[in-house]
Parts: sequence; structure tokens; C-alpha cells
Amino acid sequence: MKLAVLGPGALGCLLAALFHEAGADVSLVDYRPERVARLRLQGIQVHTLEGGHRVIKAPIGLGPEVGPCDLTIVAVKAYQTETAARALPGLMSRGGLALTLQNGLGNLEAIARIVGSQRLLAGVGLLGVTRQDEGRIIYAGKGVIYLGAPAGSRVSGMEVAAVADLFRRADLECQPREDIEAVLWEKLVINVGINPLTALLRVPNGVLLQLPEAFEVAVAAALEAQAVAQAAGLTLSGDPVARLRQVCANTAANRSSMLQDILAGRPTEIEALNAQVAARGRSLGLPTPVNDLLTLLLRAAAQSAPFQVG
Ligand code: PAF
Repeated sequence: MKLAVLGPGALGCLLAALFHEAGADVSLVDYRPERVARLRLQGIQVHTLEGGHRVIKAPIGLGPEVGPCDLTIVAVKAYQTETAARALPGLMSRGGLALTLQNGLGNLEAIARIVGSQRLLAGVGLLGVTRQDEGRIIYAGKGVIYLGAPAGSRVSGMEVAAVADLFRRADLECQPREDIEAVLWEKLVINVGINPLTALLRVPNGVLLQLPEAFEVAVAAALEAQAVAQAAGLTLSGDPVARLRQVCANTAANRSSMLQDILAGRPTEIEALNAQVAARGRSLGLPTPVNDLLTLLLRAAAQSAPFQVG
């Protein structure tokens, strides 16, 4: 099976490195020729928390160089999906699959607008991986990847199982799920609580447990998201507040992806997270005042960067 991983961020680099080490026919795909040249030269550098360091020379190329693949994994930030999806028609072979392993909602729809929904897979990754620099990542912790065919997809259970096997051969825990949309929402419920609060307050995830007011806002955002999911007909498992607490504790030292984006001056994924909860709540007639406000604050935080003092 020929694979492409679209996007040389933290997750994209990790997947390309692990698939390559496992002997898969994989290429990391980027759209910037200068970065492709640099990454080819330096390889993907994977650091572990135990002090391990490996340089993995997985093939890296522009979309047209890589050509049609049986499976293309979309691993770009949610705000890049629209642009990245334009490479998919050239990367998906006839009958090839596209799998989004991105945060938040809206990615499936953006990809389906370009290549349709029949050959789409959705996934949720709970891996601890952080981008340190271009092509340099920290693989902080193994975690499970859930995969499934979302609404509108015609991908069979056997095909999902084959993709899950591929991940397992690359030493990645992977479980097929029939309720992948609910799994996407379960992660979203956590992200809409932790990500904007840690980004606005510039604190690691665990600190939210020491700041009662901040945690209260995170809980309120998560509960609104849970209510919207339920109103949309999804059944989410577990208690969202307990899960929020547990993720903050388990990832206490982590800087959330949104905090990393703010610190690096990059756009954030607020539009795929809290803004999606707010928009979907609105269309269901469900008020989401906390998610509305957090969306506005994060947009304002991004706009204020050039004017900040100190
Ligand atoms: O986006 C993130 O940073 C992660 O999904 C999570 C779970 C909040 C941990 O930092």
C-alpha cells in the first residue's frame, strides 16, 4: 500500500517517520519546495522524553512528485485544511482513501468539498507529540488512534481494519470505531475547555487544575459542547468534567497546541473548535455563550499580537 502523509507538522513528521521505520512505502508531502529540500537534507528528528534521538530519512516531496497513493493521511492544522485538500485529487489513486487525523470539526466537510465523502475516513489521535522546530519533534507519549468511516463514507469495515493494521505495524495503537463522529466530539469537548484557556492564560494544561476560575470556564465550555453533541443526536461516553480533569492531570506539563500556536505567532484552531460548537449550537437553537466568548477572545488575541506591550 502506497501512503502519503500530508503536512510536515508534529503529527505528520511522526507518522511518516514511524511508517518509514516499519518498512511502509510512505512519503511526507509538503507544498513548500524550500522546506522539502531542507527536510530531505536533515531528515525527521524524533526526540523522546527519555532522551532518545533518531534521525529518520523518510521520503519527502511535493504532491506532484509523490503521485497517486492508496491512502493519504491529512495531518495539517485545521486552518490549513482548505488549502491542503487541493492536493488530494493528485494524491488519491482511483479508489484511494483519505484519512483526516486533525483536531476539531469542519475538516471532513472541507475535504469532502474537494474529493467527495465516499472514500473518506476520520480519525482521532491521542498521541503526545510536539513540534520543536522544522522537522524536529518530541514524541512524549504513545496513545491510541481511533479510526472509522464517518457519515457519507462508503469505506467498508474491512478497509478500515486494513488501515488500522497498517498503523499497528508501525507500532501505533489503533482501534476501528463505528461511532467515529462521537469520538471526534469527545475529543472536541476536551479541546474546547483546555485549549483556549491555556492559550489565553499562557499556562501548561495542569495549571488549570490549580486555577478554580479558569477551570470553571473550561468546564462550562466543555458542557456546552457536550450539550450541542447530544442535541445533534450523538451519544458521548463518560463524564466530560471527569475527563477534562483527567486530561489536565495526564498532560500536566504539556503546552496545549493552541498555546504553542499563540506563542509561535501562528493562527490558532479556534475556528475548528469553539467556533464550531458555537455555530452548530446556533443552528440547533442552543445557546453557547461561553464558546461564543472564547471564540471572540482568541480571535482578538491573534489580532492583538502586533500591538502588545511588554
Ligand atoms: O490540542 C492539544 O493540545 C491536545 O489535544 C490536548 C489533549 C489538549 C493536550 O494538550
